[in-house]
Amino acid sequence: MKDKTEESRRLEELRKLSEEAKAGGGAKRVEEQHKKGKLTARERLEILLDEGSFTELDMFVKHRSHDFGLEKQRFPGDGVVTGYGKIDGRLVFVYSQDFTVFGGSLSEAHAEKICKIMDMAMKMGAPVIGLNDSGGARIQEGVVSLGGYADIFLKNTLASGVVPQISAVMGPSAGGAVYSPAITDFIFMVKNTSYMFVTGPNVVKTVTHEDVSFEELGGAVTHATKSGVAHFASESEAECLVGIRNLLSYMPQNYREDPPRLKTNDRPDRVEEALNTLIPDSPTRPYDMKDVIRLIVDDGRFTEVHELYAQNIIVGFGRLDGRSVGVIANQPAVLAGVLDIDASTKAARFVRFCDAFNVPLLVFEDVPGFLPGTDQEWRGIIKNGAKLLYAFSEATVPKITVITRKAYGGAYDVMNSKHIRGDMNFAWPTAEIAVMGPRGAVEIIFKREIEKASDRDEMEAKLISDYTSKFANPYIAAERGYIDEVIEPAKTRAKLIRSFEMLESKVDTNPKKKHGNIPL
Ligand code: HXC
Repeated sequence: MKDKTEESRRLEELRKLSEEAKAGGGAKRVEEQHKKGKLTARERLEILLDEGSFTELDMFVKHRSHDFGLEKQRFPGDGVVTGYGKIDGRLVFVYSQDFTVFGGSLSEAHAEKICKIMDMAMKMGAPVIGLNDSGGARIQEGVVSLGGYADIFLKNTLASGVVPQISAVMGPSAGGAVYSPAITDFIFMVKNTSYMFVTGPNVVKTVTHEDVSFEELGGAVTHATKSGVAHFASESEAECLVGIRNLLSYMPQNYREDPPRLKTNDRPDRVEEALNTLIPDSPTRPYDMKDVIRLIVDDGRFTEVHELYAQNIIVGFGRLDGRSVGVIANQPAVLAGVLDIDASTKAARFVRFCDAFNVPLLVFEDVPGFLPGTDQEWRGIIKNGAKLLYAFSEATVPKITVITRKAYGGAYDVMNSKHIRGDMNFAWPTAEIAVMGPRGAVEIIFKREIEKASDRDEMEAKLISDYTSKFANPYIAAERGYIDEVIEPAKTRAKLIRSFEMLESKVDTNPKKKHGNIPL
């Protein structure tokens, strides 16, 4: 039997090793991290997770390298803190890269730690959250580190659609390292302290002779507005971490579960008179579709995704009587709500996320069609618009559309029409469902008559008026059953809640196949 002193020596050793691991790269490097306006890996986890819920794994893992003097620098944990914890009482798996240890660079051992928690997340059916802050591949380890990245990419791919995966980029993410976040479902970045790029400003300068700063090339604002790589650009790390907690509240733990239903005091039958007068009389006058969304969802709370990117379409999460819904809405206030390449891909990805994780879809439609022009055609509006069509068509979750005003041309079909398995298709009395707008239609079908007319303007005006009264309404579509009901806008919330309740037991399937071939 060991004596007491031996036991306490062992305990002391454990405590000392734990303290050593928790110190990361040491006080000086922690200070440098703070000076840059960044939190440490562990401080971030404290904000992200429910208080006291974090259980750390692999705290004593060290790298196994012997090159370039690495054998003399062996930090317990090897630059990444991994484990599990809770968010709003629900299990999540996390990794948080520690920039104070080798710049958070990824070694073989570091990668193994990340892979381990990803395997556990898959088995337990819980989300994975990665907090990235890393100089990339551990240069001294060479190809072994590249292999570690590839192991993570594979696991990200296999976990896609099984459990939600969320990435926060909270420092550098460069080179091939960007592809792990890129495969995950949502990317958060923090303004001024995080950046992502395949090659940095120096390489860009050598290859293309462009002068560009880190922030401009791959900062949060760049990726949230220009490239669409980032879904959220946060003002601070704390805002980013709280944002992740909020986002997860709309999602289930995995693809087998439904999203949690939250209690609300917002009455399901709330009538919103303002909606009856929200659509302008002139069909060309814009209005803000976000006003429509906020007036309908629970407590006016809407979590917008990709807020700054392709603003002609709005996507995000809200709740109706406590049930999570994924909202996709044309935005008449930006580019008249037209569908272009960026809007189509943005919405398609969101639709596929919602369908993968049993989040019902709610579409608000006011769309004049696809954006014309050589730029769009040459960059492939055909294949990109097809992504959205494909995404809506294959989705089997409950799907509801509300046409508020224009539903023209191919865009009518694409935006979750009855024909591609929309479950409930509503229209407001202001809806105009037609192949195109009245003026364009008349100029094509009555081209000769107008040319011959003595007073062209008068004739054109009359034809437009005839066309408008015949087609610029929801009733022809309603006669066919393409629209299930023309509803009073003020009562939209109650209609939607009743419909989603009815659709709760919906079962729909797609034909058996290995996987489809979405146009990429
Ligand atoms: C090993 C690294 C490292 C790396 C940083 N460090 N990056 N160690 N491998 N990749 C170490 C530094 O030596 C330093 O150690 C500490 O981390 C902090 O780095 P600093 O340079 O002092 O910090 P800072 O000035 O903030 O600059 C951060 C940085 C810079 C911009 C990330 O460190 C950098 O450019 N690193 C190299 C980035 C890179 O080229 N990575 C490979 C990308 S390619 P000490 O001991 O001094 O504190 C890649 C391929 C992935 O990742 C492929 C997947 C398929």
